[in-house]
Amino acid sequence: MQDKGENYRMINFKDIIADEISKITNIEQKEIEGYIEVPNNAENGDYAFPCFKLAKSMKKAPQIIANRIKEKLEIDENIISKIDVVNGYINFYINNETLVKDVCKEIDDKKEKYGSSDEGKNQNIIVEYSAPNIAKEFHIGHLRTTVIGACFYNIFKYLGYNTTGINHLGDYGTQFGKIIEGYKRWGNEYNLDENPIEKLTEIYIRINELCKEDESVLEACRDNFKKLEDKDPYCVELWTKFKNLSLKEFNKTYDILGIKFDSTKGEAFYADKTQEVIDILKKNGKLEESQGAMIVDLSDKDMPPCIVCKSNGSSIYATRDLSAILYRARTYDFDKCIYVVSDEQKLYFKQIFEVAKYLDLDKKYTDGLVHVSYGMTRLATGKMSTREGNVIKVNDLLNEAISRVLDIINEKNPDMENKEENAKKIGIGAVIFNNLCNTLAKEQIFDWNNVLNFNGETGPYIQYIYVRTKSVLEKAGYEPEIEEIDFAKLEDKESINVLKTIYKFNETLRAVIEKYEPSILARYLIELAQNYSNFYNENKIICDDKKVQDARIFLTKAVGEVLKTGAKLLGMEMPDKM
Ligand code: ARG
Repeated sequence: MQDKGENYRMINFKDIIADEISKITNIEQKEIEGYIEVPNNAENGDYAFPCFKLAKSMKKAPQIIANRIKEKLEIDENIISKIDVVNGYINFYINNETLVKDVCKEIDDKKEKYGSSDEGKNQNIIVEYSAPNIAKEFHIGHLRTTVIGACFYNIFKYLGYNTTGINHLGDYGTQFGKIIEGYKRWGNEYNLDENPIEKLTEIYIRINELCKEDESVLEACRDNFKKLEDKDPYCVELWTKFKNLSLKEFNKTYDILGIKFDSTKGEAFYADKTQEVIDILKKNGKLEESQGAMIVDLSDKDMPPCIVCKSNGSSIYATRDLSAILYRARTYDFDKCIYVVSDEQKLYFKQIFEVAKYLDLDKKYTDGLVHVSYGMTRLATGKMSTREGNVIKVNDLLNEAISRVLDIINEKNPDMENKEENAKKIGIGAVIFNNLCNTLAKEQIFDWNNVLNFNGETGPYIQYIYVRTKSVLEKAGYEPEIEEIDFAKLEDKESINVLKTIYKFNETLRAVIEKYEPSILARYLIELAQNYSNFYNENKIICDDKKVQDARIFLTKAVGEVLKTGAKLLGMEMPDKM
């Protein structure tokens, strides 16, 4: 049996079918379950078992196998109301009355916790996301990891995993030697209280220019970094100042997005802990010298070598990551450590995950390392880019989303209450949804026309349907108790479609974390919103038949609740008006 945790009580139709077939065929339940499909066309049932999967081992034609299994199947009619065989498939039709009752009762019982479970209760999950670099702009790529990572974080938690969210800040590296040098020289020319990141970037560009002209300046920069490593008070003071100024800016972004981390231990935290990595690799005979640097050869894995420290002994990005793996294994005893980082670092993560295998860690840890990569974001128009070309400030983008929505509201619904607050929820929700609605691997194209389209497959559309459920409830003026519901009144096609979609909520969440694909939830919410919209268009909710009305109001409430919960797991909030 697939374990959804103790607090998950809904009937698992798929499980029951798999169990039965497993008993008949003597094939393991899990294997059978893996074969069961959900037909694209509901006319072919709710679940289908493709018998050609067994044709080889059973040495019979799929059609014959299908008929034999069907004859022996003994599933209660209250669970599966009809079974037929078509082209070697066994099609199962679930009992709608049971489904309706089951879904309604569960949702009434669990309310805003509907779809949650405790299946992950003994597992420790780390989700590492965001990780911007201090003294550099928080760019649109960082926005993407932030939103994706937060979504995984929310869902793992919702499914009962013990989850830790880490922001692995890029707060270390030789570039700080340079920024310190620049600041020493020209610090008084810049007011860092205003747009600190922009100013620090300017200083960085300026000192880089100078370094190209004058070797002695470069020397001074290197010296600063060495001093920083040796904890020279002045260098540490400046570095701390840059870090705090940057964090203040980053926190503005996190605040607008409503994102928090459990830990913000960044690269600097590991800077003085990398010796252990070097020592273990050396002891295991994995360290080689190459052109003055220390490397781990990975040619047997068809990869370029991983450089783990420089000729002068300084740690680098990779060493700090390896050190972080040791630290996280010990501190969090993780079952999975998930890195949400763009596909530009695909090879890099493959390399360090390989090298991690030489660190004497339990296999559990090295098996648990996962790089979830995503495609970069491109702009449909060059309009939002700044002088440099491609650096868009995320805070500007988020504020622009809010002000664009506010313009729309002012035009269409100027008397709306809580205008600003709703505009924020809609604008930010739109940007978040846009980051999650396509498969991660795909390059993302950012286009305001798509992002804010209230009728498209967008965040605002989901919010719009949610607000509609709210206004239906408001108009009704009451909410029926579950005991009063006559479930038979929800057996029209549209109602069943809505309820079947609601039924799939938990398995949708599971699929997101199994496949590392938030778009599965985003698409699900679109499907639910569209199904409700069809239901709404086809049926009168407030009507003469009180029994029908009660049932439809109940369904409306259920849809609102699932939309809200699902959106929240994506990271979106719901407006109260639209
Ligand atoms: N700071 C890096 C960047 O902006 C991302 C860090 C990713 N995480 C890691 N553990 N290396 O590119």
